[in-house]
Amino acid sequence: MDTILEMRGIRKTFPGVVALDNVNLTVRSGEIHAVVGENGAGKSTLMKVLSGVYTHGEYSGDIDYQGQTRHFRDIKDSEAVGIIIIHQELALVPLLSIAENIFLGNEPARRGVIDWELAQRKTRELLRKVGLDEAPDTLVTDLGVGKQQLIEIAKALCKDVKLLILDEPTASLNESDSDALLTLLLELKQQGIASILISHKLNEIARVADAITVLRDGSTVDSFDCRAESVSEDRIIEKMVGREMAARYPPRTPHIGATIFEVRDWRVHHPEHAAREVIKGVSFHAKKGEIIGIAGLMGAGRTELAMSIFGRSYGQRISGTVLKNGVEIDVGTVGKAIAHGIAYVTEDRKALGLVLDEDIKKNISMANLAAVSERLVIDEAREFGVADGYRQQLKIRCSSVLQKVLNLSGGNQQKVVLAKWLFSRPDVLILDEPSRGIDVGAKYEIYSIISELAAEGKCIVMISSEMPELLGMCDRIYVMNEGSFVAELSAAEASQEKIMRAIVKHGDKNGQ
Ligand SMILES: Nc1ncnc2c1ncn2[C@@H]1O[C@H](COP(=O)(O)OP(=O)(O)OP(=O)(O)O)[C@@H](O)[C@H]1O
Ligand SMILES: [Mg+2]
Repeated sequence: MDTILEMRGIRKTFPGVVALDNVNLTVRSGEIHAVVGENGAGKSTLMKVLSGVYTHGEYSGDIDYQGQTRHFRDIKDSEAVGIIIIHQELALVPLLSIAENIFLGNEPARRGVIDWELAQRKTRELLRKVGLDEAPDTLVTDLGVGKQQLIEIAKALCKDVKLLILDEPTASLNESDSDALLTLLLELKQQGIASILISHKLNEIARVADAITVLRDGSTVDSFDCRAESVSEDRIIEKMVGREMAARYPPRTPHIGATIFEVRDWRVHHPEHAAREVIKGVSFHAKKGEIIGIAGLMGAGRTELAMSIFGRSYGQRISGTVLKNGVEIDVGTVGKAIAHGIAYVTEDRKALGLVLDEDIKKNISMANLAAVSERLVIDEAREFGVADGYRQQLKIRCSSVLQKVLNLSGGNQQKVVLAKWLFSRPDVLILDEPSRGIDVGAKYEIYSIISELAAEGKCIVMISSEMPELLGMCDRIYVMNEGSFVAELSAAEASQEKIMRAIVKHGDKNGQ
């Protein structure tokens, strides 16, 4: 088999950080090549080097593509030869339609006039290819992050792609959508399109990868050919973290007390379409020391539920009651929710969780400034100490906590969001996709912290699309579908199959 891409001796530094050093990557024609490594290992940076985001001189080393040495000047330059990258942070324009996003800068024109009818037709075709059934003029802002990811792929397919780079494409997708996406990758492979797949989900890699390259601390540590040998997840993990990992979830003996947090008959209407009820009378409770989970498919309304409870950050015409320790509380604003000891760790860290232009230290102290202040003046030393403590505990990879959040790797940004809310010392911690984009080693650290918080008597509400994570961590799991809770399962009785069955059964009832 011939080689489509060879990167040799790649080195890239940022002020104070060696992001890549002596990295080698060989991709053969028409294969799916996985690149794995811990958060901050250098995966995204390597792909930015490849796609011309960083130009030769900013990095050193060689890139041979289709038998020629290449020095791409920018993204357009690499796109021209068929290298298309889909970045970890999505780059769609929220207030434009799907069709406009797909054809942005690339509009089909007839005699200089943009042919929107053609664009719509082509869009519909591309959407079908990625398994979406949305109208082309739907605004991107009205889609969940999962669907936006599929639009990104449709956009790539619209160009003449030969090497597709996907940086954590399934991080925000649920299992069935991830599955569809991987099937799509396999189909593209049949058509001779090679891809580089970055993912923290090792089961997906096992399913589709022909080869795997492992990065650790900015260097290539190993490369596997899955066609020649079978490569176990444990072996990959060992290479990634540099040691053996015994378990994926920390051991836990729950001590569950009285009900702390309760939501009754919660109803929420869509922010633009007031008549549309998005959350349809949901009731649930969580006890002291308990970790509850909310399972469901993408679009089930889990994030909308959490956000509407947390300071009415989503929706309108909200009704229902929230109780803490049996007393009704007012959670009408984010400030009030925080004051009542409620914290919400969001899945969309860019939009809701972080101030990217500020340093790590400020981002962490933000939700609890009182704890680092003396008579309303921030004690910088104390603030630094707190942030540095979290840096060590969560293993946030950075030059120091004075580094801007903007420059952190995706997974490390997620750790900062988590640190921020942990520091707000909540009684009720709502976690929305807490381990999205987090590497296996760091996941374990996060799970350990979650279970310590539970052991201290906090209650945790965990929203996750990764069912193994819910099954591994929760004492009780609610299943949500189309704005309602359709099942409640104890840890003992819960299984992936039962959760799926509850969802499907409910769908049937609605005549679907
Ligand atoms: N623009 C930048 N300025 C300074 N440092 C940077 C910049 N971009 C990346 N880095 C640093 O380079 C290292 C590698 O980051 P990179 O984003 O490539 O990691 P990654 O392997 O993609 O991690 P993740 O799994 O979390 O996405 C990190 O230490 C990161 O903080
Ligand atoms: Mg990355």
